[in-house]
Amino acid sequence: MARTAGRVEGKSAIVTGAGSTPGPGVGTGKAVAVALAREGASVLLVDLWAERAEETRALIEAEGGKAEVFAADCTKAADCERMVAAALEAFGTVDILVNNIGRAQVGTVVDLSEEDWDFALSVNLRTVFLACKYAVPVMAAQGSGSIVNISSISALRGDGTIAYSAAKGGMLAMTVEMAYAHGRQGIRVNAVAPGHIVTPMVKSIPGQDTDYVNTLRNEAGLLGTPGDGWDVASAVAFLASDEARWITGVTLPVDSGVLSVTPLSMARHLRAIPQ
Ligand SMILES: NC(=O)c1ccc[n+]([C@@H]2O[C@H](COP(=O)([O-])OP(=O)(O)OC[C@H]3O[C@@H](n4cnc5c(N)ncnc54)[C@H](O)[C@@H]3O)[C@@H](O)[C@H]2O)c1
Repeated sequence: MARTAGRVEGKSAIVTGAGSTPGPGVGTGKAVAVALAREGASVLLVDLWAERAEETRALIEAEGGKAEVFAADCTKAADCERMVAAALEAFGTVDILVNNIGRAQVGTVVDLSEEDWDFALSVNLRTVFLACKYAVPVMAAQGSGSIVNISSISALRGDGTIAYSAAKGGMLAMTVEMAYAHGRQGIRVNAVAPGHIVTPMVKSIPGQDTDYVNTLRNEAGLLGTPGDGWDVASAVAFLASDEARWITGVTLPVDSGVLSVTPLSMARHLRAIPQ
């Protein structure tokens, strides 16, 4: 077993979207699930496509970790209710919930259709509401729990994805609101905002996996190096663990510093304009 520091030893976790869009590399939910298992958690792998979650389970079990697959459409209340019940039945507690489901839709307020807006809000935000609706009472009864929401830098910077960005911004508002409402019940709620990471989902978008775009993606960050699902997973494992016991209501960017610079200083950084 590729165990690390045992940060979440003996805890149980639900990871939504724990599969990964097919292709080389690893999605964030898959990486998060594997990382939590390596740190000692038992993980319920929730995905719309069971076969994707099965791949994650195979990875975890090959390393001696513990995981169960649960097929669910997390836009549906009944599925989320059954998901929490399944975690309780399998592991006895729900200590960690990672809300990872998401899908970007390109479009402005003018050209995005009403249907695409509703779909984006449903996949990116309703799933968080429903998963928390059923997990929080369980955590409150336990007197402890840690929720990590996978948002995006699109919540904080223009990206041409009006509905996705609105939903990811909504996640950040929910993070603060739930931290406020449930702190006294021993529940911490934090968010991670990934930047221009490379996942199979990103690679599957036409035009996103060219040398030119990959260079831009790397160079846009202050570190000048590529990031992936494992970088997000490390941040999630920390926030989910008791090492972060006094941290709640925060958003942690995992973005190679993209949020730390203005466009003008970025142009200087890239030496596109004189120093
Ligand atoms: N990849 C990036 O560059 C990037 C950047 C910022 C934020 N994010 C966020 O990270 C998260 C994961 O991204 P990824 O690139 O790993 O995507 P991914 O498509 O590989 O993984 C998402 C998983 O969610 C599952 N899913 C979709 N709808 C579902 C539903 N209704 N119910 C249950 N499962 C469902 C999919 O089957 C898939 O396996 C998303 O929230 C995304 O917005 C990604």
